[in-house]
Amino acid sequence: MARITAGVTTSHIPAIGAAIDLGKTKDPYWAPLFEGYEVSKKWMKENTPDVVFLVYNDHATAFSLEIVPTFAIGCASEFTPADEGWGPRPVPVVKGQPDLAWHVAQSVIQDDFDLTIVNKMDVDHGLTVPLSLMFGQPEEWPCKVIPFPVNVVLYPPPSGNRCYQLGKAIRRAIDSFDQDLNVQIWGTGGMSHQLQGPRAGLINKEFDAAFFDRIIAEPEKLAKMPHVDYVREAGSEGIELVMWFIMRGAMDDDVDEVYRFYHVPASNTAVGHLILENRE
Ligand code: DHB
Ligand code: FE
Repeated sequence: MARITAGVTTSHIPAIGAAIDLGKTKDPYWAPLFEGYEVSKKWMKENTPDVVFLVYNDHATAFSLEIVPTFAIGCASEFTPADEGWGPRPVPVVKGQPDLAWHVAQSVIQDDFDLTIVNKMDVDHGLTVPLSLMFGQPEEWPCKVIPFPVNVVLYPPPSGNRCYQLGKAIRRAIDSFDQDLNVQIWGTGGMSHQLQGPRAGLINKEFDAAFFDRIIAEPEKLAKMPHVDYVREAGSEGIELVMWFIMRGAMDDDVDEVYRFYHVPASNTAVGHLILENRE
């Protein structure tokens, strides 16, 4: 049977991808950030899964404003890194896991969550930057990836609670897949940041610290926080944090916190990162 062994959260700032690709990770601005992910890369080498179920948001790259699915699942066998304006990142093509993706689609849709099935899609920094942070710069990504884009760009995004319940449905789906696979679920984006308007550059360390604690200890309660609180406290792009609840819902109620990292700022954003493990 397939099983979810661990959950990872991480910010996905595009400038991090550029710093890696341009060899700037040792520059004084970037070094403290990348040092924080050394632990993660080491943990990942020892805990490489067969599949990463990667919850992220597309930033008007694969989806334009013409069609915006709330939840989508990538069922293709590969996904090409997108050109976001400076050419595609020089990272490997992302290999999918169509068998598991179709199984999750069938199970979750029949479990009353409507997903958009995507058979062709380019993937932007929302997906490739987390892969780079966790795996470094390999020739090929060391596992399969199921991309799971969530709309947090065009109002209205899904609620934290909807995401949390969806995570539980994804867990039921993965638990019922008959191939023996080690699966990790990643919830990416966040933490506090606002990219536009008079409050651009907003960071809220107190909010972020409480969010870390509460998503581990009382996710069900935290999931009920309304959107306006994210926008007020964590900035307009802080709403990306609702995606962490899909990861959390798919994990056990009680989890082990393996690692926590927080760094301010990278570009305009508070970088937040967690590694959680299910107890055996
Ligand atoms: C930045 C952060 C994001 O989440 C994003 O999608 C784009 C840019 C930033 O901080 O620069
Ligand atoms: Fe973003």
